[in-house]
Amino acid sequence: MIVIGADHAGYSLKEALKDFIINDLQLEIIDMGTNSTASVDYPEIAQSVAQVVAEGEADAGIIICGTGIGVSIAANKVKGIRAALCHDTYTAIMSKKHNNANLLALGARTTLLENAIPIVENWLKTEFEGGRHETRVKMLE
Ligand code: RB5
Repeated sequence: MIVIGADHAGYSLKEALKDFIINDLQLEIIDMGTNSTASVDYPEIAQSVAQVVAEGEADAGIIICGTGIGVSIAANKVKGIRAALCHDTYTAIMSKKHNNANLLALGARTTLLENAIPIVENWLKTEFEGGRHETRVKMLE
């Protein structure tokens, strides 16, 4: 189960990524909104997505705003959340392998859909490496 949320700036990218996740990756989605391009406050959306992951109701989450910066700052204030703002597949993969990121943050005004799709696909399929990284990730708590 994947939880997703975006503010007004990220709404269109969220809808496109939902289609990809449901139809191509065959995964289930919880959508925390927003549901239009009307202006909303990104901290509320980001923290509602983060809460779903922190409570174990979803395996991973995706949060989107204009730059991805606001949602990642907001989500990282929720205990147990490791949100990674990624602009390419390399950082997406490494955020899982080394940081065990449980939220992926994207910027809809900085990342095209054609780039966001492989970022999401690689992020979802990459596993945490554990080992020496386990100790460091525990230190984040
Ligand atoms: C909204 O205009 C914009 O500030 C927001 O989407 C985000 O980029 C904040 O970090």
